Amino acid sequence: MTPERLQKYMAKAGVASRRRSEEIIAAGRVRVNGRIVREPGCKVSEADRVEVDGVVIARRSGFDYFILHKPVGILSTARDDRGRRTVLDLLDGALRDRRLYPVGRLDFATSGLIILSNDGELTHKLTHPRFGVAKTYLARTPVAATPEQLRRLAAGVLLEDGRTAPARVRLLPGGGSVPRLEITIGEGRNRQVRRMLAAVGLETSGLHRIAFGPLTLERGLAPGEYRPLRTEEIMALRQAAAGRGN
Ligand code: URA
Repeated sequence: MTPERLQKYMAKAGVASRRRSEEIIAAGRVRVNGRIVREPGCKVSEADRVEVDGVVIARRSGFDYFILHKPVGILSTARDDRGRRTVLDLLDGALRDRRLYPVGRLDFATSGLIILSNDGELTHKLTHPRFGVAKTYLARTPVAATPEQLRRLAAGVLLEDGRTAPARVRLLPGGGSVPRLEITIGEGRNRQVRRMLAAVGLETSGLHRIAFGPLTLERGLAPGEYRPLRTEEIMALRQAAAGRGN
């Protein structure tokens, strides 16, 4: 690899956009071979040890895995014939040659956790209903679900593409004027949560995914932001896809 500017190297490793990486460098948070570097122009290559906040970053030679907070109003497809913005448009240009794609779908109007990767095998296992990897959503409804509606959702409801598998459902306390329920499903059918709620007579006024297998959307990741997954997070995802640690 030919040496490249530190902020570009950081952007390719998925630390942050190039501009944000420049700020991180200027703040003295980056060490190259043990020495704090504040000049973004500094050139580095894979032979160099680059640390951000004490964590070594490396361009992995294999697959890439990112967690992204999808905002409402962005498509979760890789591209759109009508030119609308997709989750891939949120990535820094330096990541464009990685052939990343979204792991599963979130509706245009749904926000929350989405994984981006170029690991086809893991993607298949994470999204195929047979592997049953749990996904948890917060749904806002205009009126609070009744105990009977919660019971029906948990037991499985009949949709036009068949009965849904049992789900974990609970009404969240303290929702104020906006009732919220938390629902965890192992399948991933098209618009499944909205259709399940509709099947028991509930309208969905907002939907947000807070967890995918072992990953949760932590507070630090604002809508539109992303970061690379840590090695232990990738391992936990593999375990969940193998039916463990879900
Ligand atoms: N279920 C839905 O209805 N929509 C999503 O985006 C995800 C799950």
